[in-house]
Amino acid sequence: MSTLPTHSKSLTRHPPSPTLSLTSLPLPSASPPYHLIRTHATTLTSGELTWPEPLSLPTSIPGFDLAGTVVVAPPDSPFQPGEKVYALTSFSRQGNAREYSVALTEELATMPRGVTWEEAASVPLSALSAWQALFVHAGLSAPGKEGGESAGRKRVLVTAAAGGVGVWAVQLARAAGAEVVGTCGAANGEFVRGLGADEVLDYKVTDLKEWVGAEEGRRFDVTLDCVGGKTLEDAWTCVKDGGVVISVAQPPETMKPTEGIRTDVRSVWFIVESNGQQLGEIKRLVEDGKCKGVVDSVWEIENWEKALERLKGGHTRGKVVLKLAE
Ligand SMILES: NC(=O)c1ccc[n+]([C@@H]2O[C@H](COP(=O)([O-])OP(=O)(O)OC[C@H]3O[C@@H](n4cnc5c(N)ncnc54)[C@H](OP(=O)(O)O)[C@@H]3O)[C@@H](O)[C@H]2O)c1
Repeated sequence: MSTLPTHSKSLTRHPPSPTLSLTSLPLPSASPPYHLIRTHATTLTSGELTWPEPLSLPTSIPGFDLAGTVVVAPPDSPFQPGEKVYALTSFSRQGNAREYSVALTEELATMPRGVTWEEAASVPLSALSAWQALFVHAGLSAPGKEGGESAGRKRVLVTAAAGGVGVWAVQLARAAGAEVVGTCGAANGEFVRGLGADEVLDYKVTDLKEWVGAEEGRRFDVTLDCVGGKTLEDAWTCVKDGGVVISVAQPPETMKPTEGIRTDVRSVWFIVESNGQQLGEIKRLVEDGKCKGVVDSVWEIENWEKALERLKGGHTRGKVVLKLAE
């Protein structure tokens, strides 16, 4: 502890103000049950400056993904000093755009072998969102797992398939054995196919409702929407009888059309939860080469404004990463 600095470079804001600034804050307290972690990389996510939980803190720090090295650990933790870890940390605490951060045992997993800090940081929030959508809320069986409904022969639609959550939804659905269709712009078509999508639709050219309506066999068991608005409204009408429409972007009920929905279609809105155990499963898929983190761009913490601009453009491929240390 004696070699630790007293302060940590941190990207902060004082909600409700969305204005960020790079400041120096005292190192966070590392007493049990928390681990003190040297942050190597974190990410920024579209819309996170408006999320409700960080807004309730007097000083909030963005970036809920964490890839780092454990510095101080509770004695009974499986993650001891020197261990390389990754995590989605709780939205109710300060995030990880700071040189030193904290995490709970249940949020952490050992970082996948053979990936960079930046690749590791690109994974947790997005991969857990896709994992929980498909394997918890849609009830499909996770790759190599018993329980749930077999994903084999199930049809899954992923909107914004080139985005943070989308790249994971395509890869995980494919790894679970589903037939996957993804939507993205023309420039991302080959990329999304390369992630394992059986078919890719250019959302600027193809009207989802018309495309699905043209052939009965095109309807989906699961639609996972990562866009919201009109795309989410259309997603409702793409689902088979008894299927499910899930969105991470907006509660589906707010965009439910008055007609065109099949019978017994249910909807799910959820907020992703930290889960070290699921991250452990995802680590195995990464190490087996079945899935990978996708880094859109990497920015030094000092260049956070440029990172935010990149994100606001709305056309990132995978995650915008902030780098804090080698
Ligand atoms: N509920 C939760 O727990 C949770 C968790 C994670 C994220 N979220 C939210 O979910 C949303 C998605 O997050 P994200 O990180 O995946 O987003 P993102 O990475 O910022 O999404 C960027 C992608 O969106 C694509 N895109 C834009 N408009 C599109 C459209 N009309 N149809 C298809 N693709 C379109 C772009 O593709 P092109 O470049 O090809 O146009 C780009 O690749 C955000 O609102 C985020 O806040 C919620």
